Amino acid sequence: MKKPLIIIKDVRKEFIVEKKPNVVALNGVNLEIEKNEFVCVVGPSGCGKTTLLNIIAGLETFDSGSVTMHGEDIIGPGPERGVIFQQYALFPWMTVRKNIEYGLKFITKADGSRYTKEEKRALAEHYIKMVNLTGFEDSYPKALSGGMKQRVAIARGYALNSEVLLMDEPFGALDAQTRAQLQEDLLRTWESEKKTIFFITHDVDEAVLLSSRVVIMSARPGQIKEIVPVDLPYPRTQATKMESEFIKIKNYIWDTVYKMYLEIPK
Ligand SMILES: Nc1ncnc2c1ncn2[C@@H]1O[C@H](COP(=O)(O)OP(=O)(O)OP(=O)(O)O)[C@@H](O)[C@H]1O
Ligand SMILES: [Mg+2]
Repeated sequence: MKKPLIIIKDVRKEFIVEKKPNVVALNGVNLEIEKNEFVCVVGPSGCGKTTLLNIIAGLETFDSGSVTMHGEDIIGPGPERGVIFQQYALFPWMTVRKNIEYGLKFITKADGSRYTKEEKRALAEHYIKMVNLTGFEDSYPKALSGGMKQRVAIARGYALNSEVLLMDEPFGALDAQTRAQLQEDLLRTWESEKKTIFFITHDVDEAVLLSSRVVIMSARPGQIKEIVPVDLPYPRTQATKMESEFIKIKNYIWDTVYKMYLEIPK
């Protein structure tokens, strides 16, 4: 039998903060992610979603358990795992185009060679167009709105074409129309290019529309409460949201998350 691409086994992560009680962000987290799977993660604020993503990215250490990809321990960040952060992290001194081209300096193509200047420019153009920022190529981040900055960060993440894409609420700050458009673009990209996506969102609609499994996390300490399969065929579009099976799954997840939210001491 084929092994899952990423295996997270019994992971525990505790944050030690001076003069404050320690926070157990994750406890006993087990998750297997298959190659080319689209997994979404939902759960109340503070339940450890970003912490889990950062651990898979190799950006955060953990106290016990193991996290492997292709059977090997993840010990640090790598180009095969691209991250699109919860808060856009752009270089303020670089234009939109340069922000997107920058990451391509550090990666190699499938044949081992580096991207040429022209190839980098062409890739940047392609993704700038996808996120609807044509005309802003030479703008600096300070001249862009929050949603536009986030779209640059998304374009930069896509341009890297990593085997695994780790996305932390990438569409959270966008207006509804841009969000719908980018959901469609992501679906089309995933359906055609097949990659493994780990996607955090607060939006249950979004989770069900995009993923083949929704991981529901619970808070204090962060644990996986349930994994709900989304057995809706791809290709999916915004119209999928009208289907009765979609609504059934969405309501089930919403109820589960809302019950957990009510249980959190306020
Ligand atoms: N660097 C840190 N130092 C101390 N505590 C931290 C740190 N990062 C996260 N935490 C704590 O760990 C818990 C999980 O945080 P995390 O950011 O993973 O939550 P989240 O599920 O992504 O929340 P949100 O939905 O609000 O983004 C929280 O209680 C948070 O306060
Ligand atoms: Mg988070």
